[in-house]
Amino acid sequence: MLKVLVLGSGAGGGSPQWNCNSDVSKAVRGKEPGTSPRTQSSIAVTANNDEWFLFNASPDLGSQILKNQQMHPKKSPRHSPISGVVLTNGDVDHVAGLLTLRERQNLSIYAHPRVHSVLSQNSIFNVLNPTYVDRRNMEMNKKFELQDKNGKNSGIEIEAFEVPGKIALWLEDESKGENFGTQEGDTIGLKISSKDDAKSFFYIPACAKITNDLANRIKNSQMVLFDGTLWENDEMSSSNVGEKTGQRMGHMNNSGPQGSMEAFKDLNVKKKIYIHINTTNPILLSDSKERKIVEENDWEVSYDGMEIKL
Ligand code: MLT
Ligand code: MN
Repeated sequence: MLKVLVLGSGAGGGSPQWNCNSDVSKAVRGKEPGTSPRTQSSIAVTANNDEWFLFNASPDLGSQILKNQQMHPKKSPRHSPISGVVLTNGDVDHVAGLLTLRERQNLSIYAHPRVHSVLSQNSIFNVLNPTYVDRRNMEMNKKFELQDKNGKNSGIEIEAFEVPGKIALWLEDESKGENFGTQEGDTIGLKISSKDDAKSFFYIPACAKITNDLANRIKNSQMVLFDGTLWENDEMSSSNVGEKTGQRMGHMNNSGPQGSMEAFKDLNVKKKIYIHINTTNPILLSDSKERKIVEENDWEVSYDGMEIKL
């Protein structure tokens, strides 16, 4: 058994984004029918209903914990059902929530060595006291079981693999050429499985391209939660909120010949769900023509609080 709880379905900034007044942010802020607020990108997973691992820790983690009773302490005086965190990259929307997890709580934090190295260079993360918090490197392409700080098995198995992407925005180095110093491992995807039965799914909240290797991994799978950042590659400039394209930000768009809907067409994935959706993306409006198109292509649009049982 695997249970997935979507804590945050939005991309960096969430929806509405604090300084954005484009169509979607405005509609969500105005509580228009068919809209709902989305916090920043994170899911929680359990294989036993008691102990959960977070996959990414968003700057909204405090409010996400408050909103979802599964994340509340269950024993007195101190307790958390959160055993640890798995990180898929070093983006602010995926790591800033680690700072919310201070206060002397046992945790294990799994990440690629590249991500651990930037966290260890940034001393603010020392609030995660090493007496309580174990930082563990994830080996790529090798299945292993997540364990809590004391080595107790979670029943959740992980296989991590590198996917095309980009170094975190706050680490971009223009002197390093057009990929800004991006290296293998800066963005990873995860296959998440339950140890006890054959349930599994993929969590890939950032991805710039579906390579043959990635297509072969996800082919015929039960479920993929996939990067849904933008509808169109140039959506930020056409909405007049920025100049960057999706590709420049390390994301694939949903639509068009280079988009994820097209790339998934022949992969026979049973359940396809967009996550990490930017506030400029019209699929966030339930009555938009773009939402209709994704649904016609058998995609679901995740929302905060969405629960999926596998
Ligand atoms: C992204 O997904 O592209 C990043 O979260 C952008 C950011 O850091 O704001
Ligand atoms: Mn992001």
